[in-house]
Amino acid sequence: MSRPLTVTTPIYYVNGRPHIGHAYSTIASDVIRRYAQLRGRRTFLLTGTDEHGQKIERSAKEEGLSPEAFLERLVPAFREAWQALGCAPDDFIRTTDARHQRFVRALWKRCVDAGDIYLGAYEGWYSVADETFYTDKDLVDGKAPTGRPVERVKEASYFFRLSRFAEPLLAYYEAHPSFVRPEGRMNEVKAFVRGGLEDLSISRTGVRWGVPVPDAPDHVIYVWFDALSNYLSALGGPQSELGAELWEPRGEVLHVVGKEILRFHAVYWPAFLMSAGIPLPTGVFAHGWMTIDGQKMSKTAGNFLPPLPIAEAVGSDVLRYHLMRDLAFGQDGDFSHQSLLTRYHGELASGLGNLVQRIAAGTLEKSLGGELDASRLGPEGAEEREVRDAASTASAACAAAMDELAPHKALEAAFSLVAACNRYVDRREPWKLAKAGDEAGVARVCHTIIEALRQVSVMLWPIMPEKATQMRARFGLGPLLPTEGLDLWPSVWGALPPRLRTQPGPALFPRWDDDAQRAILSRLGAEIPPELQKQADKPAAAAKEHAKASAPALKIEDLSKVDLRLALVLEAAPVEGSDKLLELKVDAGDPEPRTILAGIGEHYTAEQLIDKRVLIVANLAPREFKKFGKTSHGMILAVKDAAKGALSVLGPDKEIPAGTRAS
Ligand code: MSP
Repeated sequence: MSRPLTVTTPIYYVNGRPHIGHAYSTIASDVIRRYAQLRGRRTFLLTGTDEHGQKIERSAKEEGLSPEAFLERLVPAFREAWQALGCAPDDFIRTTDARHQRFVRALWKRCVDAGDIYLGAYEGWYSVADETFYTDKDLVDGKAPTGRPVERVKEASYFFRLSRFAEPLLAYYEAHPSFVRPEGRMNEVKAFVRGGLEDLSISRTGVRWGVPVPDAPDHVIYVWFDALSNYLSALGGPQSELGAELWEPRGEVLHVVGKEILRFHAVYWPAFLMSAGIPLPTGVFAHGWMTIDGQKMSKTAGNFLPPLPIAEAVGSDVLRYHLMRDLAFGQDGDFSHQSLLTRYHGELASGLGNLVQRIAAGTLEKSLGGELDASRLGPEGAEEREVRDAASTASAACAAAMDELAPHKALEAAFSLVAACNRYVDRREPWKLAKAGDEAGVARVCHTIIEALRQVSVMLWPIMPEKATQMRARFGLGPLLPTEGLDLWPSVWGALPPRLRTQPGPALFPRWDDDAQRAILSRLGAEIPPELQKQADKPAAAAKEHAKASAPALKIEDLSKVDLRLALVLEAAPVEGSDKLLELKVDAGDPEPRTILAGIGEHYTAEQLIDKRVLIVANLAPREFKKFGKTSHGMILAVKDAAKGALSVLGPDKEIPAGTRAS
């Protein structure tokens, strides 16, 4: 059985509230751990707060508060944020915890005993914002390489003999080539160490807010020596019961960090541990940095984006999905509100949500009364086998991607199965089978889709735990219950219970019309893109004027040329790759349902249209939509309020039979 996995996030500075960058690291760590949980591994997710150092000391002072009072105001915001974002850490370590400080001092003493700590004097530059020492040659235009200000420091200081560790570190990297990931980052770390390591100043006398150095209370321990220790202090040290079980060599430990703090994790922390004779963690994954709508987040730009309002507006799972899908894990990327909405509509609402709705509320509910009996399925044909194959390819690719810490690729794999399912439904046209009374055929289609979606729910659970659970519930499947020693990853086709019953529920990913999107964007203070901007309120009179001018007079016989008919919408589904088009199957009194493509997807969800009676022009020449490989046989009549942007399809206010001609 595989070893237990501990995933750690960086512990965050509490000089402000959590922002989306912090959320990104925590969500990614939670996703990695949930995947391992599904595979039956014992797991542990650790996060916390970095509460010492000059940055916090100064921020508190600026607010006229003691550091303790300042922290008490801010720390709860971190705990709450992770909970609201669906992250479930097993422990939340604070560097002000007594258990933590005890371990830091113990680690210090072990390094002293190893002869790796000595008293000296430090003279050089310090950036409080980075909590980092810099030499003259590090500075760029008189500032830290991060662009942050530096100040001159000259004080007595304890040093760690980092210079002794260049060779052992390089040997370690050689022996453990995936210690740092992605690979390119390993090369950067090696190059840095090969460039030579200088001893590291690890105590401050000019700072009071920290852990006092054992036997030298006028010094406090440098905030990074203090902070890095959290990974072990939270486990009670390497020899405690938990530490022995979870830390190397019995457990695997993965530190997830932003790329800017890789050096601390891949060079300094291993060196401290080597000195203390403690095994090193298994690996460090450095992810990229995110800009916001193209801009760097900074105090000066005042654009720290808080994650909770986004989660409140779109749902925490949607935010998790977007962050994991839109940014390639390990690379830099941009967070854009607009692309969140675009992905939501294209992949979640149209791709997955509509498929679930089409089968649960549509075909299964309407044709089979919501019940699926596995003993009454029609035969399996080539089309079903294609979905089966797509499922086994997707589940293998998704697992491989998660194993290589690439959640963006894992999602791509899961969604390739969703797309295969949508193609399958389009080809099998279960509504036709239903009309022909082929219940076994309908049941086969539903069974195939639900089995595929069961597998998709497992693949999506690490990223969207709530939605995956809701989706399962819709088909009467219970929640996933990760259990140690039990691998829940989909490996065989056909694990559905013999009888299923759909459960009523709201649409998994409802479509947001223009008004809803505008409301979300303005609530989040984000820019409204031109295509969503309301046309300046046109006075109603001008609209009337326009109507008059554009309507030529008709003779009554001209009117009879237009075949206006009432049609009943049987099926509706968004057209893949289009934000606006919906593909409708309508009963317009013809022998077969006819297909009409209508550009009303921004105003109606597919579900809202099903069972609606609408007025159509039935004798319009067929119109080809080449881009989507589809043809429309008719047009739905609708009116649009130019000022409000609202659109309404036209239909009768009494139940008139489908196919009736308008007169
Ligand atoms: N306290 C240290 C870490 C100590 S770990 C022993 C620290 N804290 S921090 O509050 O500044 O958080 C830094 C982490 O937040 C980054 O490493 C990264 O994980 C995350 N991010 C902060 N801004 C970010 C972006 N703009 N984009 C992505 N992640 C970012 O450093």
